[in-house]
Amino acid sequence: MALHKTRIASFIGMALLAVSGTCTTATAGTDARPWMNRRLSPDQRAELVLKAMTQDEKFRLIRVDFGDTENGHVMAPGALGSAGYGPAIARLGLPAIQESDAGLGVAKPHKLGATALPSGLATAASFDPAIAYAGGVMIGGEAHRRGFNVMLAGGADLVRDPRNGRNFEYAGEDPLLAGLTVGNAIAGIQSQHLVSTIKHYALNDLETDRTTLSANIDRAAARESDLLAFEIAIATGHPGSVMCSYNRVNSVYACENDWLLDQVLKRDWHYPGFVMSDWGAVHSAAKSALAGLDQESAGETFDKEVYFDQPLRAAVASGEVPQSRIDDMARRILRSMFAAGVIDHPAKQAPIDFAADRKVAQRAEEAGAVLLRNRDALLPLSAMQSVAVIGGHADKGVLTGGGSSAVQSPQGNAVPGLAPTAWPGPRIYQPSAPLAAIERRAHGKVGYASGDDIAAAAKLAAQAKVAVVFVEQWAAESFDAPHLALPGHQDALVEAVAKANPHTIVVLENNGPVAMPWLDRVEAVLEAWYPGAAGGEAIARLLYGETDPSGRLPVTWPRDESQLPRPSIPGAGLAAIGLPPQGQPAQDVDYDIEGADVGYRWYQRKHLRPLFPFGYGLTYTHFDYSGFRPQVENGKVTASFTVTNRGSRAGVDVPQLYVTLPGSGEVRRLAGWCRVDLKPGQSVQLVATADPRLLANFDGRSQRWQQPAGGYRLQLGHSATSFEGEGQVTLAAASWAANASPAGVPQPCVAGGAR
Ligand code: BGC
Repeated sequence: MALHKTRIASFIGMALLAVSGTCTTATAGTDARPWMNRRLSPDQRAELVLKAMTQDEKFRLIRVDFGDTENGHVMAPGALGSAGYGPAIARLGLPAIQESDAGLGVAKPHKLGATALPSGLATAASFDPAIAYAGGVMIGGEAHRRGFNVMLAGGADLVRDPRNGRNFEYAGEDPLLAGLTVGNAIAGIQSQHLVSTIKHYALNDLETDRTTLSANIDRAAARESDLLAFEIAIATGHPGSVMCSYNRVNSVYACENDWLLDQVLKRDWHYPGFVMSDWGAVHSAAKSALAGLDQESAGETFDKEVYFDQPLRAAVASGEVPQSRIDDMARRILRSMFAAGVIDHPAKQAPIDFAADRKVAQRAEEAGAVLLRNRDALLPLSAMQSVAVIGGHADKGVLTGGGSSAVQSPQGNAVPGLAPTAWPGPRIYQPSAPLAAIERRAHGKVGYASGDDIAAAAKLAAQAKVAVVFVEQWAAESFDAPHLALPGHQDALVEAVAKANPHTIVVLENNGPVAMPWLDRVEAVLEAWYPGAAGGEAIARLLYGETDPSGRLPVTWPRDESQLPRPSIPGAGLAAIGLPPQGQPAQDVDYDIEGADVGYRWYQRKHLRPLFPFGYGLTYTHFDYSGFRPQVENGKVTASFTVTNRGSRAGVDVPQLYVTLPGSGEVRRLAGWCRVDLKPGQSVQLVATADPRLLANFDGRSQRWQQPAGGYRLQLGHSATSFEGEGQVTLAAASWAANASPAGVPQPCVAGGAR
């Protein structure tokens, strides 16, 4: 939109599902409102309400207004100052719809503040569905206590390009990892009696000219990549709503794309919830309605007109859209409200335990920060060392990504006034200063230099035993980075500090992979992503070894742009932050270049060696694998193996199971993993199960998933490129229809026993 509002082990198989509020005791007064009977199913209850609804009430339910005051919009009296508002239908006992962004916390109203989770990429990097679920519970709980009952969360678009401005809202490049991470986050949110969305459906993988760009891709390849992530996340978390995206897919706008909405989502995946539009993503009444859009969001503010009022009424009157379709829209919305408990457990203002919630955010950051380099075991730091802390506003706080998902702390913005102050800003910092957290731990002298003056920073670094340089890259919805370089003079700053002090550590606060021309000259690098509400504390705990770094990269880290499927993004950039766009934005992006081989699979296919592979991350100890034994049991592919902690410290390992299908060359897929916490010398036996969805290819002609007959190579990886354990199993051919995918949550890892 052009206009915008300003352990022993925690296992992947933990099916932390929580759709609530469906079945307790009957409520008094159900005679007049039989749908309030909690013994009935969400479908039955929705049907009963629908029967009692007038046409006007249905039409009121299928559109939601903007809930804020920007762009000249006059806020409705009951709205809370957030993304969306639909008035209550008191006659029927239906509460107002109160919608809040987004997946990293309650984004609005800014002035009230909320607890920010670290980036979605940090949560994905934990490879821990329990961390994702806990984050969902936390942000859903805060949203409910602010009076919201719909959370616009669940960013599941795959990272196809490290320069995409919204990568920090998403869960990486792998469909299984993204699907399970996002699905569990959604389940967590919905456990708090809110409807969560999953978004942005689909292939909203770039922000440049996102409202018109067509993402072009072979349909079968889409099913095996971006759509598979959504399919797994929906099967895992049962989001009440799917948000269709701004972009076009194969030339047709996502919110009027019959293939995406009606055929794939509603028919093949049997999705019972409702499709809501992104803000400004609707371009038609009848076409959208017939394709499967169920609710128009803030059309009066962001669309050319409110399509789901007069124009749609006219289409019904003329017979172009059947009445049954209007009923289906309303029924789906009502069903999701009942299923999530929105009606039985109305959201209302209540106190929030911010201290407890900060701990949830801190744990997510500690589980998801990735140690990329640690030469000569410089880390963990010793309290006795003197430290020069440099750059990144580390004296004030940690950076947050921008756009509609940006969360401000209840204590306010730690560094106000930095560009851009208007959309897609403001640029927000969480008041969790790494400097203070380091000072609390270091007995030696701690100094700080802002880094604005490179010579002064180098001088400070020269006087200390170690130097910790914080570098940052702000990203936000609505623009992509034109290249991978860190903004401003930060590369020169790192070079100068590293020259002055051989023991230099770089901490990255960024959207994702960036160029690191100085990599060989620094001793350690910690990828902290956008670190969230307690980021400073989490970073210090990791640097000082109070907790072991345990994140693994959910994205491949390229050496440079030439390794990417599309080396440049014409028109990418944002002048307000010194990145003026170059060239005309494309109206079509060709995703058939890599097709389903997103991220690490592209590197394998092209025999490219990335800077850091998917799945990579160091710890303060080391692990080895033994006894790798793949087998087929009742048609299921499993592999048992033993992981041993060979170091002298406790630590977390993430052994990863990759599979290469017959006839697919070198391209392997992540089929399962475990996350295991081991004491020094401890071993554990694990059994990984490859999800059948990863053992098949989608055949566009027959519209079936086909599992080819032949030998399947299985490898046990420390990452997508480093293996310790390999074997093969033979499978017979199998296939299932597009609408008969395996149901339920993938269960790729179970514990054997600890020794
Ligand atoms: C974003 C959505 C968001 C919506 C409402 C749009 O600009 O793309 O992710 O939920 O605004 O704020």
